[in-house]
Amino acid sequence: MALNALDRHVALIGFMGAGKTTLAGEVALRLDRCAVDADRLIEGRVQLPLGAFFAKRGELEFRVAEAVIVRDTLQAATPSVVSLGGGAVKTAEVRAALAEHALTVLVEIDVDAAWERVRGSDRPLAQDEGDFRRLYEERQPLYREAADAVANDADGVILAAAGIRHELGALERLGELVPGTGPVALVTDSTVMGIHGAAAQTALGDRLVSTHELPRGEEAKQLHVVERLWSELTLDRAGTIVALGGGSLTDAAGLCAALYLRGIAWVSVPTTLVGQVDAGIGGKTAIDIPQGKNLVGAFHWPARVVIDEALLETLPERERRQGEAERIKTELLAGRTLDVRAAAAYKAALCLRDPHDRGPRQWLNLGHTFAHALEAAADFDLPHGEAVALGLLAALRLSGRDAAPVVAALDPQPVEVDRDRAWEALLRDKKRSGDAINLVLLGDGGPYLEARSPDEVRTALDTLIS
Ligand SMILES: NC(=O)c1ccc[n+]([C@@H]2O[C@H](COP(=O)([O-])OP(=O)(O)OC[C@H]3O[C@@H](n4cnc5c(N)ncnc54)[C@H](O)[C@@H]3O)[C@@H](O)[C@H]2O)c1
Repeated sequence: MALNALDRHVALIGFMGAGKTTLAGEVALRLDRCAVDADRLIEGRVQLPLGAFFAKRGELEFRVAEAVIVRDTLQAATPSVVSLGGGAVKTAEVRAALAEHALTVLVEIDVDAAWERVRGSDRPLAQDEGDFRRLYEERQPLYREAADAVANDADGVILAAAGIRHELGALERLGELVPGTGPVALVTDSTVMGIHGAAAQTALGDRLVSTHELPRGEEAKQLHVVERLWSELTLDRAGTIVALGGGSLTDAAGLCAALYLRGIAWVSVPTTLVGQVDAGIGGKTAIDIPQGKNLVGAFHWPARVVIDEALLETLPERERRQGEAERIKTELLAGRTLDVRAAAAYKAALCLRDPHDRGPRQWLNLGHTFAHALEAAADFDLPHGEAVALGLLAALRLSGRDAAPVVAALDPQPVEVDRDRAWEALLRDKKRSGDAINLVLLGDGGPYLEARSPDEVRTALDTLIS
């Protein structure tokens, strides 16, 4: 079973009328991949419209042509987003190619909606309603068997492609959601353990071999904490670490998994808003060292991310505000309003496009150059969300855009820190192009990277300090 589409095609399967072709186009755009429509490829190859080919040569010959095209498409090295005809999964060769080369997503539609969409069309298998409904029932088990995940919109396909399950009450199903059958170690912090730990332990059932509590918050991201965890673990290489907590916990437990036995699987179960829209997604793990935050880490993509918004009900308001800043940042990048699921999907798409943070994933740093400088100047006594809110103001002003949405949503207030210290921290933090400073800015077409002069950047920073 494929866990994600990092190095695989995304293949959309499902009944006719489900909207696979349209979805494939939308998902391909967001993942910066090519969209491939298997039916159009077949028409090109046989030089006939599908209906005519079906009528003239029969279904059997059509399925043979289809299997060849699908196999060739899925064998291409560059991952794409492929939409398959409704009956493609009938062919064993197609199912085998999907299992080998794709993350297969079943695009769901109910039979009434499907019939409404396709009735009156020239689709050969949609001419009689009774036959159509029988076929629908007949195909469902095949779709379920071939699918790695189920979705019904572009965000759902992208979340599936990143290995993310977003589901209310998912914590109770954690046992099923942890891939594989090997032993599991639950890693959490002392606060989260007291609130959600027992439910997680119950859900993990017999697979759970040990539970480990790390200090809460940033204190977890210390080498000695991770070292102690390594010494406690008894997992073998088939084992999985389940990290239940906020961004600090998932950062530390993810790094522990990246290095233990040269890398074992981990599942991220973010319990804060920051975690669910940002930190728990994308495989960046890190700890802090005295020289700075997040300076030692690894890219280690979680085998699964489980997002259960019910876990946020116990989150203190102060912590929720930290996440709001990241969610508003993501809305600015996306240019539309986003709930938790959509914000998670936006980040997931950027991480799938750029897992090692060398290109568009850097857009997620909108406002963070300023935020990091203010945090350092405040000796990290400034909550990250407040620093990000201020950073967003500066980024919008430098982009020549209206900062009112950030003011309305987050109401950032200038902070009292030493201006020179903040400026020095900003200069240390960022890559430079000669004298100029590279920033993520926002244009009408979305985010972009641009070098700005030190004078402009310093003026923007100064406006954030009281
Ligand atoms: N890896 C990444 O891509 C990435 C991205 C963004 C942030 N981060 C990191 O995330 C960290 C911040 O994470 P955070 O903001 O999630 O906070 P956190 O993990 O530090 O947790 C904050 C507090 O909330 C408590 N808590 C967590 N879930 C709770 C719940 N459901 N109910 C009640 N209390 C709960 C914790 O016990 C802790 O006391 C930083 O270290 C930052 O560097 C990483």
